[in-house]
Amino acid sequence: MAISAKPSSSTTNVDLKNGVISREIFVDRGVYQDELERIFATSWLFVGHESQVPKPGDYFVSCMGEESVILCRDRQSQLHIFLNSCMHRGMKVCRYDEGNTPVFTCPYHGWSYATDGKLVGVPYFKDAYHEELDKSKWGLVEVAQLENYKGSIWATWDESAPSFFDYIGGFKLYLDLLLDTWDGQEGGTEVFGGVEKWVIPCNWKFPSENFIGDRYHNISHRSVDMVGIGPSGQGRRDMTERNGSRSLDICFPDLGHGTLGFLRSKDAPIAQAYQDSPVISEYFRWCEEERRRRRGEHTRLLGGPGTVFPNMSYLPRQPRSIAVWHPRGSNSTEAWRWYLVDKDAPQEVKDFLRHYYIRYSGPGGLTEQDDMENWNYAQTASSGVIARRRPYNYEMGMGRGDPDFQDNGLKLPGLVSDTTKARAAEQNQRAFYSRWSALMEP
Ligand code: FES
Ligand SMILES: [Fe+2]
Repeated sequence: MAISAKPSSSTTNVDLKNGVISREIFVDRGVYQDELERIFATSWLFVGHESQVPKPGDYFVSCMGEESVILCRDRQSQLHIFLNSCMHRGMKVCRYDEGNTPVFTCPYHGWSYATDGKLVGVPYFKDAYHEELDKSKWGLVEVAQLENYKGSIWATWDESAPSFFDYIGGFKLYLDLLLDTWDGQEGGTEVFGGVEKWVIPCNWKFPSENFIGDRYHNISHRSVDMVGIGPSGQGRRDMTERNGSRSLDICFPDLGHGTLGFLRSKDAPIAQAYQDSPVISEYFRWCEEERRRRRGEHTRLLGGPGTVFPNMSYLPRQPRSIAVWHPRGSNSTEAWRWYLVDKDAPQEVKDFLRHYYIRYSGPGGLTEQDDMENWNYAQTASSGVIARRRPYNYEMGMGRGDPDFQDNGLKLPGLVSDTTKARAAEQNQRAFYSRWSALMEP
């Protein structure tokens, strides 16, 4: 086994040939610091949603890696993302979560920046600086690239990074299941006001690799499954729509993204969920018919949980949401969760979904607590000197993926494993660490 017990820049922590990964990558502080440089300063990261900043002057304070950033819309309605740090002595120029402003005025000495990042106000500019300070050189630091993809806002600090579309590659098809409306139109989602934020005492990779496709951990959610908190009154989610479908694990080892999918048969009937509310049932039935009309064969594909490398995870169906696992040290993660809904959905549908989302997700929800218990205790139990000597096992379903998958003429991009019979696989996790290792252990 090529796994080393002790971390060092010259050793390999990820051994995918043998399906083992050293615990060091979850607990070692040196590895964590390297991740901030090699992963978070170079990758495309999810920052927010355009519906959070609809008007000129609107801003939303987010994070990229450990660093605070401001997503804002300038007076010309252009979107920008700035490092939330004053160019004079580094003070946060914006200490609120969101709002609307003509300028960001630093609370320390009062430098102020316009919403396009330019330094526009310097106290005592005449007297103390003798008008010699070149303001044009001291604007806020802006991201190297920004992309607004169907309302989801992404950015990278790396000028030489590939475009966002090259970064997501063939994964676009699956990400679209989150960002398109349920009736099959391109884009058209909005987020409910407010983002849930909480801290989990675990490494950021635990949630990222869980959401990329951990079908195996169903035992953890046994109690919520039994209670049946789903919108249809069955299980945890809207499971009725998946009955009789093929289960697929889909990943892109070169890119590090992955998701679970469900493929319904050609003649699958339109699902009859949400029986407890005729308005909701009728709406979703209508959406499904519309989607079939617009998308044809692709309507058979239902999305499941997924992760866009490195730390953006999502659920495309109820509770439709985006989570970002902000790194906060080798043993701490700040989780943020945005909830999405179709902008044009009737208010009754939005209210129904908001209640269900809250019931399901976040620190007060019934399901997410189960996961957090696992990650929390796994972190502590992996950190001791004896525990650190043993790698984790990622051998499940090795070598089984199909890079040319198709079902009745429907071709799906990525490496696809049919897990209908097998119940679970770990190819998606291996894809995540394949990308991790390409950046960290080239
Ligand atoms: S730190 Fe912002 S004005 Fe001095
Ligand atoms: Fe879970």
